[in-house]
Amino acid sequence: MNKSPDGGAPAVHAQHLTVRRGAGRNPRTVLDDLAFEVPRGRITGLLGPSGCGKSTLMRSIVGTQAHVTGTLDVLGRPAGHPELRSRIGYVTQAPSVYDDLTVRQNLDYFAAVLDPGRAVAERRRADVTRAIADVDLTTHATALAGNLSGGQRSRVSLAVALLGAPELLVLDEPTVGLDPVLRRDLWNLFHELTAVRGATLLVSSHVMDEAERCHDLLLMREGRILAQDTPDALRTRTHCATVEEAFLRLVDEADARAREQTR
Ligand SMILES: Nc1ncnc2c1ncn2[C@@H]1O[C@H](COP(=O)(O)OP(=O)(O)OP(=O)(O)O)[C@@H](O)[C@H]1O
Ligand SMILES: [Mg+2]
Repeated sequence: MNKSPDGGAPAVHAQHLTVRRGAGRNPRTVLDDLAFEVPRGRITGLLGPSGCGKSTLMRSIVGTQAHVTGTLDVLGRPAGHPELRSRIGYVTQAPSVYDDLTVRQNLDYFAAVLDPGRAVAERRRADVTRAIADVDLTTHATALAGNLSGGQRSRVSLAVALLGAPELLVLDEPTVGLDPVLRRDLWNLFHELTAVRGATLLVSSHVMDEAERCHDLLLMREGRILAQDTPDALRTRTHCATVEEAFLRLVDEADARAREQTR
């Protein structure tokens, strides 16, 4: 991984981050005045129920979301800065791979798009081979993507994001639909990416048991950040045994506060 000149700064810093979505007469505020940080070299879990804004937040960080206001700095640059393109790996919620290409051809294609003409062919091939091995698809490298299972296809997408060893990986629900063994293997890979390669991971999920595997958590609800803490601190602070219980308690408390205010 590259060392950045901005050293100790968090990977992501957001202040008054607001996003409005929806065209026409009824645009809605889907992210509402968020302030948070994603620390470097750690796994931050972005958790919250369906529709709370996880994907919108990730799209904002990788620079593909329109109508973003406030401050959003990513790896020391404003989100969407062209220099960030090769420093961020992003896996969208719906895997995007070409069905009529093999696993390796998909990776070769994206490697060429990512780094047109710059890396020598041999280095690029080694990068592709490593990314395929990282997601445990070496034995399927010559299979057509269209013939893979859902879990295998989503791992091809993840391999694409790992090309070029980006400093920040933004993974939108990467473990959905995977069996328990694969989920465990992927989480082991995520930990290796942070511990050994020094990468920063932002991983969304609405499966609360995955929260326990993260170093830090951002809990979201209805376009707002409910809490930013480590799993341990969150459980201790809320006197709960699990992150799921802690989350539900925070939701109840937020609802109670909202009722107070409208009284
Ligand atoms: N293209 C769009 N136009 C208008 N509103 C949208 C659009 N896409 C998403 N939204 C709204 O933005 C809100 C946040 O959506 P988002 O996809 O970020 O949620 P999420 O937390 O990722 O949900 P999930 O867990 O189901 O993936 C939702 O209320 C959704 O209806
Ligand atoms: Mg989503």
